[in-house]
Amino acid sequence: MNQDDALKLLLETNDNYFITGRAGTGKSYLLNRFRKITPRQHVVLAPTGIAAINVNGQTIHSFFKLRPLDGLQNPDRFGYNMRENHIRLLRKIEVLIIDEISMVPPDIISVIDKQLRVARHNTQPFGGVQLLLFGDLFQLPPVTPVKTILKNDEPFQYDLNRLLNEKYGGVFFFNAPAIQRAGIKMVELQKIYRQSDPIFLKLLNQIREGQHNRDTVKQINARVNPEPANFDTIVIASHRHTVDLINSSKLASIDQTLWTFEAEHSGYTKSELDRQLAPLTLRVKVGAKVMTLINDPAGRFVNGNIGTVLNITNQIITVQIGNKKFEIHRHPWNKMHYTADDDGKIVEKPKGRFVQFPLTLAWAVTIHKSQGMTYDAVVIEPRGIFDNGQLYVALSRATNLQRLYLKSPILPQHISVHPEVVKFTQQLRAA
Ligand SMILES: Nc1ncnc2c1ncn2[C@@H]1O[C@H](COP(=O)(O)OP(=O)(O)OP(=O)(O)O)[C@@H](O)[C@H]1O
Ligand SMILES: [Mg+2]
Repeated sequence: MNQDDALKLLLETNDNYFITGRAGTGKSYLLNRFRKITPRQHVVLAPTGIAAINVNGQTIHSFFKLRPLDGLQNPDRFGYNMRENHIRLLRKIEVLIIDEISMVPPDIISVIDKQLRVARHNTQPFGGVQLLLFGDLFQLPPVTPVKTILKNDEPFQYDLNRLLNEKYGGVFFFNAPAIQRAGIKMVELQKIYRQSDPIFLKLLNQIREGQHNRDTVKQINARVNPEPANFDTIVIASHRHTVDLINSSKLASIDQTLWTFEAEHSGYTKSELDRQLAPLTLRVKVGAKVMTLINDPAGRFVNGNIGTVLNITNQIITVQIGNKKFEIHRHPWNKMHYTADDDGKIVEKPKGRFVQFPLTLAWAVTIHKSQGMTYDAVVIEPRGIFDNGQLYVALSRATNLQRLYLKSPILPQHISVHPEVVKFTQQLRAA
């Protein structure tokens, strides 16, 4: 379906929809178009801070007032200790919009369902709220780490993946019984806006769906090239420490004064600060490679532009992007928070503020952070890729095969698709 038809459909329907499509088909773009014109009361949520900022929304955890391990520990208990104003808010929602739904696990969906049913005194799934879920299941799955937590003062190995499989039969949003009860239709966006080269698109699609052959791998591996020296590229790697290492060693190799800028912030918890889009401490030098983290309100640059620092003062960092120079000031981010006002309208209010230069070192980023982004020229480090969809997310950030480079060859084991995702997608397509 094309984007305009999808928009029309979403504006007319009361049904629950999973709006999907390959990377770059404009899912997030469509979400924004919809939320701007729908007359219905809605909230926009996402599983991670970055994804939430990307669509000007709130994280699921903060909106539903969840603590980190809340979902699985006791989903059924949820919904009985809600505050009056939280209940009032949940009663007003007509449409619940979530972006990057592939990263949302089923226990969280169950909690959402429970809270909405209880608050709204409505036994239908999700208390009768319409769901519009955006995302691509062939991209990053929920993060399901093995954590050691203290339980009755004893260290306890908490293996989320195993627990989700035991309790829900899988780790994806559609494994939640409430989704199965609610029923969900699929809209698949077809046109890709990020890339246009048919050869690259074919390779990306083969890797996305695990339909690759030896030739696919060979053609991608033809890009194991030294990156050109005078070119603005970004390295994408699976592990954070690889990324930090590349960035800090590159910064250290520049023989210039080191500037350190601490963010000013209020209303954020420590873990939210760790997950902020902009660095808490920005260390930067003239000559550093940086990436912009916002769409410039004046329209000069967009989120994800890469450039080089030309000059630094206390108030202004001057960055060259392409052949243009931009003076960049500190930027305020607002943490959005939804409440219901006295007339029963849902209002968005800023609940926290974070002020920092909208820049980060950009010799390298993690795959996780690159999700949702568009990059003009990329170098991918496939070593260390460990999860389904990671290679596809990394490769599909690039707009162009000629400006994509690999640090080492990709191996067939880097390409993996979860069989459940294939099955679920086929079922929805057939429906
Ligand atoms: N209708 C449109 N007109 C112009 N540009 C568009 C349109 N739709 C999408 N784009 C652009 O295409 C790029 C990809 O769009 P977007 O990020 O919304 O895709 P996505 O499906 O959310 O991708 P991902 O799966 O990677 O999150 C963005 O740069 C976006 O601005
Ligand atoms: Mg997106």
